[in-house]
Parts: sequence; C-alpha cells; structure tokens
Amino acid sequence: MDNPAINDHKIHALIAQRWSPRAFDSRPVETDKLAQLFEAARWSSSCFNDQPWTFIVATKDDTVNYQKLLDCLVPANVSWAQVAPVLGLIIAQKNFKHNGKPNAWGEYDAGQAAATLVLQAAALNLVAHQMGGFDPAKAIATFSIPETARPIAAIAIGYEGETNNLPPDLQEREIAPRTRYPLSSFVFTGEWGNAAQFV
Ligand SMILES: Cc1cc2nc3c(=O)[nH]c(=O)nc-3n(C[C@H](O)[C@H](O)[C@H](O)COP(=O)(O)O)c2cc1C
Repeated sequence: MDNPAINDHKIHALIAQRWSPRAFDSRPVETDKLAQLFEAARWSSSCFNDQPWTFIVATKDDTVNYQKLLDCLVPANVSWAQVAPVLGLIIAQKNFKHNGKPNAWGEYDAGQAAATLVLQAAALNLVAHQMGGFDPAKAIATFSIPETARPIAAIAIGYEGETNNLPPDLQEREIAPRTRYPLSSFVFTGEWGNAAQFV
C-alpha cells in the first residue's frame, strides 16, 4: 500500500515514499539487499567520524537469534513485527573511540545511521519500521551489550505485506492519513517561536 507524505513543499520521491507500515510480507530479504542496507548506514555522517552505531540483526531462518530479538519487543509490537523477515536493534556507543570521553552525539549519530538505512530500504522497495517499544534491559542481558553502549531502538525490515492480514485495530492505524506539524511550528528565525519567513 502506498502511503506517501502529503507534503506542502516538493521533496524527493524517496523521502515521500518512505513510511512505517506494520503489514509485512513473510518473504525473506535477499542477502545482497541486506548488506546494502547496512552499507548505507555505514556511510552516514558522524561526529569525529566516530561511527558510534552497532546493529544486532537476525533473519527469520536464524530461528534462535530471531526469537531472541522478538522476545525483546513489547507485546503490541510483537503482534505485527513477528511477520517481518528481519529484526534488529540499533545501539549507540556512549564514548568516543579516539579518546574514550563521553560522546554527546552518539545517539544522534546512531539515529542518523538508522535513518540512512531506512531510506536505502525504501530505495530497494523494502520497508522498515523502527520501534521504541522494546525492553532495553532485556536486550542488554540477552545480547551481552556492554555498559559502554545503549540500545536505542528496534527495527523490523522486509517487504510490505497486505494490510488485510493485520488485526482490525492495526488495519485502521495502517490506513490512517500520515500527518506532520507545519514547518512554521519548528523552523524559527531570530528567536524561539518566531517562524522563519520562508515557511
Ligand atoms: C525511534 C522510533 C520509535 C518508534 N517506536 C514505535 C513503536 O514502538 N511501535 C510502532 O508501532 N511504531 C513505532 N515507531 C514508528 C512511528 O510511529 C512512525 O515512524 C511515525 O508514526 C511516523 O510515521 P511514518 O514513519 O510512517 O512516517 C517509532 C519510530 C521511531 C523513529
């Protein structure tokens, strides 16, 4: 199902096309495409080029590791994400590699890497759905994530499925129009709250 952004200004088709469906097809993702997703993340920008991101990923055929990821999700996310052929965790390093000092931009950079991955997914006709709804403590224990790293979000990746296969309440959310705040509410000039003239 297409659910393009209803944009007020022209944006690139790839950005307009990207969205976060809950309906996944069970068809596996080709391994070369999977590699391309993480290659895209790899080429994201980061403070000091520190690349403070880590992904823990499993495909459904890797039943043990896939189940470990699924078990970290909150039940509301399990209900739809369990169909996705690929699950993952996005993890940010807390400290810079070059000097070991706290990296205030680690989570920002990990988010950028995830956003780059998600756009690459859209370019490959895949969909990705990020999730804050997971249990970080469980993820840390399950995957031996060190104290120097913080799991930020989970992600489901795959080909889009049929909306009709979702439970009725999720079908409703799936077809609801996608909304955004207007530019004037977050693009300021001069002082906080003063909308930039061009918006
Ligand atoms: C960090 C993050 C956490 C999210 N957590 C969840 C989640 O736990 N469950 C869910 O169904 N969607 C989750 N989403 C998806 C958002 O609800 C979705 O991106 C937002 O509604 C905008 O829709 P769009 O991605 O289709 O443009 C999350 C997205 C992000 C980026």
